[in-house]
Order: sequence, then C-alpha cells, then structure tokens
Amino acid sequence: ALKRTPLIAGNWKMNLDHLQAVATVQKLHWTLKDAGHEGDSVEVAVFPPFTDIRSVQTLIDADKIPFALGAQDLSAHDSGAYTGEVSGAFLSKLNVGYVIIGHSERREYHAETDELVGAKVKAALKHGLVPVICVGETAEDLERFGASAVPAGQLETALAGVPASADIVVAYEPVWAIGSGQAATPAQAQEVCAALRGVIAKTLDEDAAARTRVLYGGSVKSGNIASFLREPDIDGALVGGASLVVDEFAAIVRFEK
Ligand code: G3P
Repeated sequence: ALKRTPLIAGNWKMNLDHLQAVATVQKLHWTLKDAGHEGDSVEVAVFPPFTDIRSVQTLIDADKIPFALGAQDLSAHDSGAYTGEVSGAFLSKLNVGYVIIGHSERREYHAETDELVGAKVKAALKHGLVPVICVGETAEDLERFGASAVPAGQLETALAGVPASADIVVAYEPVWAIGSGQAATPAQAQEVCAALRGVIAKTLDEDAAARTRVLYGGSVKSGNIASFLREPDIDGALVGGASLVVDEFAAIVRFEK
C-alpha cells in the first residue's frame, strides 16, 4: 500500500512578527534536534504571515532547516490591480511550497465562496504551490446535515477542473472545533476524512485519493495528536494555537514518541 508521510502543519494565523518568526523557527528546529527527532518520518510545515515569509525562507535556506514553508492565502489572480493581494508567482519565487486555501476564517470574515476557493486552488497549482484546501462544517451544519455533507460539497466544488495528477492536501477543520479546545473525536474526524477521500476519488481519481494527504484540524494538541494519526484516513494535522508554543508544537511533531 502507498505510504503517506504524515504532515504536521502549523498555521500561525495573524500571530508572530518577522523577528518572532525567526526566533520561533530557530527554537523549534533546535528543540526537535535536541530531542533526536529524525526529519524524514514526519514532514513539518510552518505557515507564517506574509510579512514573515522572506525572513523565514532566508533562515531555512541558510541553516538547512528541514521545514516546509507555506503561506496562509493567495490571490486567484497572477498580477494586476488587486490592492492588498499577493500572487502565487511571488510566493513560489520565495520557495514557498504550500498555501492554505479556504480556511474557515477567510470564508467567514472575507466572504470567500467555494467558487473563489476553487479559483485559488487553480492559481496555486499554476504557480507550483501545493494547495492545502480547508473544508469543514459549522455547529449549525453539523446539527442539520451531519458532519460529512458540507465539507464534501465544499471539496467537490474546490476540485472542479483540477487535473487528477495535481499535488494537493486536504484539511478537514470542523469550524466548531477551531480554537474552542473541543476537538472532534478521532472516530468522527476519521469518518469525514474518509468521505473526503471518496470525493477525491470521484472528482480526481483513485490514485489521487490513495496518495493525497488528508489532515485534521481543530484544537489539536500534544495530548490528542496520536489518537487522530492512528486513524487510517488521517494523515496529519493543521495546528493553530498549539503551533505558536514551540515545546507543544515539537511534542505534536514527535507524536510517535
Ligand atoms: O488552521 C488551523 C486551525 O484553524 C485550528 O486552530 O487553534 O484550533 O488548533 P486551533
């Protein structure tokens, strides 16, 4: 069977300026090194604010730090009169590998629709970035439709027109579990992640479904990470609050220990 390398991704959201970012990445690197963490069993990725990316990229390059770098959003456009937006072309020039798309905070506070999310996914792929496509139901959706229906629908729209060979990551983040301290149960997260893998099989193909990593996000901590990663369809985590605390994030990365 195809082995998917677990991805532990830290979404810093609007936290840590570029000086704090450099200090945090350095400290995380040394903490993992001191703990004897082997880099190749788990992929670590950090998603700082745009203004930090250049500094973090320089540090990662200079010190050969084995972390992937991601952005938290991108524009659906390549360039032009879009004040305040950032192009995927600029991100890939800075060796950014991943970009979060459709986080629930963007959907809620910036009115991002499933169609815009789909356009951003295509923009990311066009510029060689791996989109981390976020989907998830609100507490109200959960009550009305159950857990899988809304995230499955969001993913289906986001993947429309995406080639089956595309390199993507999917993150299931139930909105009610984000920053609430109340994570989904591993069984419920597994059920939705399996349904999302089914959507990948249907919209892309079986091979894409088998190789694509599906992450869980929402109140992930060092104390619950292992229980999620034991599930067959959960291939990592998208971590918010706990990614800002170096020792805690390092413990999440070392979930096998
Ligand atoms: O993108 C990660 C995030 O939304 C989860 O946040 O703070 O619940 O880990 P948190």
